[in-house]
Amino acid sequence: MAIQFEDSFQRKFYYLRLSVTDVCNFKCTYCLPDGYRPEGHKKPSFLTLDEIERVTGAFAQCGTSKVRITGGEPSLRRDFTDIIRTVADQPGITKVATTTNGYRMAKHVHEWREAGLTNINVSVDSLDPKMFYQITGENMFNQVMEGIDAAFDAGFEQVKINTVLLKDLNSQELPKFLDWIKTRPIQLRFIELMQTGEMDNLFKKHHVSGVSIRNHLIANGWILKLKSSNDGPAQVFCHPDYMGEIGLIMPYEKDFCQSCNRLRVSANGKLHLCLFGDHGIDLRDLLEQDEQRDALIARIQGGLQQKSVSHFLQDGNTGMTPHLASIGG
Ligand code: 5AD
Ligand code: SF4
Repeated sequence: MAIQFEDSFQRKFYYLRLSVTDVCNFKCTYCLPDGYRPEGHKKPSFLTLDEIERVTGAFAQCGTSKVRITGGEPSLRRDFTDIIRTVADQPGITKVATTTNGYRMAKHVHEWREAGLTNINVSVDSLDPKMFYQITGENMFNQVMEGIDAAFDAGFEQVKINTVLLKDLNSQELPKFLDWIKTRPIQLRFIELMQTGEMDNLFKKHHVSGVSIRNHLIANGWILKLKSSNDGPAQVFCHPDYMGEIGLIMPYEKDFCQSCNRLRVSANGKLHLCLFGDHGIDLRDLLEQDEQRDALIARIQGGLQQKSVSHFLQDGNTGMTPHLASIGG
């Protein structure tokens, strides 16, 4: 191994989140309420399979063992299965994950599994089909549920579900969600709504802290699991009567960033050191040929030295991220 990617706070980066498209077919109220609109008039050009191979190869060489393929909706890429295979084939990459809205899973998750996908996260913001539609703008609740069943069928031992906590929308559904995971190996992760650049009233209206859920869990016999060094920022709870687990992701809590172990590359080839508030370091000119690997590694390592200790979200900083579809969450 040449070097290990590390920042000036001695945080090491084992985990790359790679966005492969900004495009999404859902219209989640907190992300793309008006649906995906391309920037400017040019047809967007997202990283090609070759570029994906070069960038993940460089990260793998420098200690990255886990890659999450994100978007937009990554499965909208026609070569999505090839992307999975390409990433999985990099020496040193042991985990290949994706985050999907689930609409193509029922049909394709077997194929993804065979190509080397090891972990899957699906966004499910409500277990009520009408509320699901209200939040996502798409009437695909049943299709997504079938997709989750298909994932278990294809051999995934656990499926992670992302649920963005939304006051007055899904905040009353905790009993339903708990019931759902009682007999299923699902890790259901409640994510506090994060304020992004394009959000105006939504945050004020619907942001709710995860603290009340945490209190409810603790009062009802749920136990906080110890973290291992490679875990992300979720606080995970388990319960002897439940097959599933509950995760809480509370980005507004103090010290949230301390366990940050991830870097991001956007679909147009920019390295982002944090979800919030950085312009991105362009890598694309160094993704044209295999021979550029050393220069690519040097640029990434150099960029990492600028990574700051926290996102300072708690101070009202929304950075410049317009919405999370542009950088893959
Ligand atoms: N706040 C919190 N989570 C968000 N996501 C997207 N936008 C936001 C936001 N503003 C997350 C959701 C979704 C995933 C793709 O990104 O968890 O499931
Ligand atoms: Fe699409 Fe995900 Fe954004 Fe929803 S949250 S609009 S599924 S990118």
